Amino acid sequence: MKLSLDRRGLTEVRTDALIVGRRHGESRLSQALAALDGKLGGLLAKVMTAEKFEGKPGQLTQLHTDGKLPAARVLVVGLGSDKGDAEAVRRAASLGARRARELGAKNAAAHFPADGLSPRARAQATAEGAVLGTYRFDKYLKEKNGKVLESFSVVEPERRSQAPAQEGVRTGEIWAAATCLARDLVNEPANVVNPSFLAGRAEEIAGAGRLGLKVLDREDCEKLGMGAYVGVAQGSLEPPKFIHLTYKPRRPRKRVVVIGKGITFDSGGLDLKPADGMYRMKDDMSGAATVLGLFSALPKLKLPVEVHGLIAATENMPSGTAQRPGDIVRAMNGLTIEIGNTDAEGRLTLADALVYADKEIEPDEMVDLATLTGAIVIALGLGLTGAFITDDGLANRLLGAAESAGEKMWRMPFHEEYKDGIKSDVADLNNISSQRGGGAIVAALFMRDFAGGRPWAHLDIAGTAFSERELPLGPKGATGVGVRTLLAYLHGLAGRR
Ligand code: BES
Ligand code: ZN
Ligand code: ZN
Repeated sequence: MKLSLDRRGLTEVRTDALIVGRRHGESRLSQALAALDGKLGGLLAKVMTAEKFEGKPGQLTQLHTDGKLPAARVLVVGLGSDKGDAEAVRRAASLGARRARELGAKNAAAHFPADGLSPRARAQATAEGAVLGTYRFDKYLKEKNGKVLESFSVVEPERRSQAPAQEGVRTGEIWAAATCLARDLVNEPANVVNPSFLAGRAEEIAGAGRLGLKVLDREDCEKLGMGAYVGVAQGSLEPPKFIHLTYKPRRPRKRVVVIGKGITFDSGGLDLKPADGMYRMKDDMSGAATVLGLFSALPKLKLPVEVHGLIAATENMPSGTAQRPGDIVRAMNGLTIEIGNTDAEGRLTLADALVYADKEIEPDEMVDLATLTGAIVIALGLGLTGAFITDDGLANRLLGAAESAGEKMWRMPFHEEYKDGIKSDVADLNNISSQRGGGAIVAALFMRDFAGGRPWAHLDIAGTAFSERELPLGPKGATGVGVRTLLAYLHGLAGRR
């Protein structure tokens, strides 16, 4: 979809579908709607009353203009009553764009009232909503839905708002495209996306953006002492790839590491998952996809923050060479781990990635994203990412970034008493707990021993990376969660909004 800024007044915009936002509980028409209503001889107000359009989120009223306006249709969408709510704008833009496409529109334009959001933020949210809402993954379908929204513009008639709005459209386009890249990678099946494929994509992204890239093979990782990661990989015919991407601006203000769990398929290993639980496990590389999405955007944004992206990619498979329950492995920091369950593999791969980050990169802050535990779904459901954060400053900035991106997150506790559960009789740690419950907390406590005491955030995205139902900002399937939160967080570190 091509995105642009339209500088004309609303009554001049020529488009297949003109999307206009309306807040809840406003008695009078906004200036924008009143102007349109005037050209339509009062019909817009009549239809809105007749259809009981109140401006609630998710509400939409449409009207054919019958040649009375250059726009073929007007779609009024509800924004709810909160002022300055970027997520309401995203969702309304998504709803309008989806309806426009359904109606066969090839292009659409959208205008939302200035209420508490800067022109830049408003334009960015509009662009994000339109792109994310109309995302589809249909490359394997012979019969595709032929309706395609080819272009979308953000309408900003106000002169002094046009430069920031243009910037907002550009930023929104980059952020949304990065999110869609992550979605594509997760939606692709595991017979396509294996560790070598991820390394190949990393190479493409690095090449296009002049980023640094190191890909370590099994032997390199063995030499570094990454016994925990290599142990997970030993059951698979697909060779593991440890991917290290680097974005390095001239005078960076901070150095950050972002780590994505990259299990391209999680069968559980010898502790095999049951069929139901295994079915969706192509999504166990969602964290990795988020990292790749992020790095596709970084070169375009030129932020003054040094960012390293790490993916310890491997499959988790059962075989004659697979790791056994009861095996003991040694991680890169020397700690030994008894394998209590081969299905708790994510924390093993992340453990070595964290040590690598701590020792080889020495960052100011580290963030990992991982579809790590079914337990986080029990704790928080499907709408919230669980955030385990060792440092309050990092927590404030990251949770603030998530809020502004509209990606819901909830801070979780490192409850020290649960550490007892991951003691082992024969190794420094066990990768599962001997005690019941609190599985997401246990996993976070396990990984903390590998973070070297640095400010670190672990985001458990097992509930939010993939959706079995359509969402306001996307269809069923991968969500690309975390890409826009990380971008907002890095913008924050860069001192930009
Ligand atoms: N990849 C899974 C976690 C997961 C579950 C992600 C459901 C998305 C949806 C992870 O590797 C796993 O299998 N975790 C186990 C840990 C247990 C063996 C301690 C789990 O959550 O059951
Ligand atoms: Zn597992
Ligand atoms: Zn897993």
